[in-house]
Amino acid sequence: MRKRALVLTGGGDCPGLNAVIRGIVKRSSRERDWEIIGSYEAFNGILREPMELIILDEQKVSGVHVKGGTIIGTTNKGGPFAWPVKNPDGTWGSVDRSDELLRKLQYQGIEAVINIGGDGSQRISQALYEKGCNVIGVPKTIDNDLAGTDFTFGFQTAVEIATDAVDKLVTTAASHNRIFILEVMGRDAGWIALHSAVAGGAEICLIPENPYDVNKILERIHKRITYGRGFVIIVIAEGAKPLGGDVVAEESIEVGYAHKHLGGAASRLKKELMDAGCEEDIRVTILGHLQRGGTPSAYDRILATQFGAKAFEMILSKDFGKMVAYKHPNIVAVPIKEVISTYNIVKPDDQLLKTARGIGICMGD
Ligand code: F6P
Repeated sequence: MRKRALVLTGGGDCPGLNAVIRGIVKRSSRERDWEIIGSYEAFNGILREPMELIILDEQKVSGVHVKGGTIIGTTNKGGPFAWPVKNPDGTWGSVDRSDELLRKLQYQGIEAVINIGGDGSQRISQALYEKGCNVIGVPKTIDNDLAGTDFTFGFQTAVEIATDAVDKLVTTAASHNRIFILEVMGRDAGWIALHSAVAGGAEICLIPENPYDVNKILERIHKRITYGRGFVIIVIAEGAKPLGGDVVAEESIEVGYAHKHLGGAASRLKKELMDAGCEEDIRVTILGHLQRGGTPSAYDRILATQFGAKAFEMILSKDFGKMVAYKHPNIVAVPIKEVISTYNIVKPDDQLLKTARGIGICMGD
């Protein structure tokens, strides 16, 4: 009987998930005694009755590295430690099904689990590891906010998409002498905003790490637009907030969804600018989930493939409780416990932040 490893993708989708899966399968196929099983929609596939598992062989993953999304589905609701259940009064609660999960893994002859996901998924990985499960993590998120790795896969693709949006807005903004506010993703970390602002040549970049002063933004606008001539591109992360203010968010009504829905930072800034006396035309563009869709960039396909191959090699070397990470120029293994103890945010001494300030990008402060 061949040894079995379970692969799952959890949390929001991200360009490159399929390339990781393909990397795992192709690397494992060089070792004849291993079989890779996919669990549909993260742990749901193994916890549901009937189970939704799929054997992932080379034929199944052929060509998938080019595709966005995930061939085994994903979810950002619940999980083995907080499985949503409906109470008799119609409200929703949750139960811990982690013991049952471990029994099911054993029953299925699964010796190791590769959990491809962001911060929330890696918290589950660590908790399962502490219960004796042979878990390996793979860092996924377009936000690039997972610690322990130089980059998560999916991030560079999101930056390409955001930069393309800046480039497109420049031509229309210049034609009309307008201010454009482009809202990009980034809940806690402003990496997408910072990278696309530098790549696209934006004048102003607002990130969650740096609460902004609307008067400083207005000052910069007035420097750029004189006698009604000129244009301004502002890139704002969805998690950006004014000095003393909070993020623009809605509580989620989705069962088992842990986060608030962010969105609206750009429209709020437009109002704040108008209230502060800005007389120029302002338009708002929200990029949203376009940043997570479509074909992964070559960079992300390569990184994801490296992560996948290394994750399987970590099974062979029994490097459990660790996450694959990119530490230039190497692909290494880092303890998941360390990864989830902090966030990778844009720090004041970050080199790209210094460059942005150095070339005159206004960071709102
Ligand atoms: O964490 C990645 C991310 O894309 C965030 O930037 C964003 O706030 C969130 O996911 C959106 O999640 P959902 O797909 O659940 O709306």
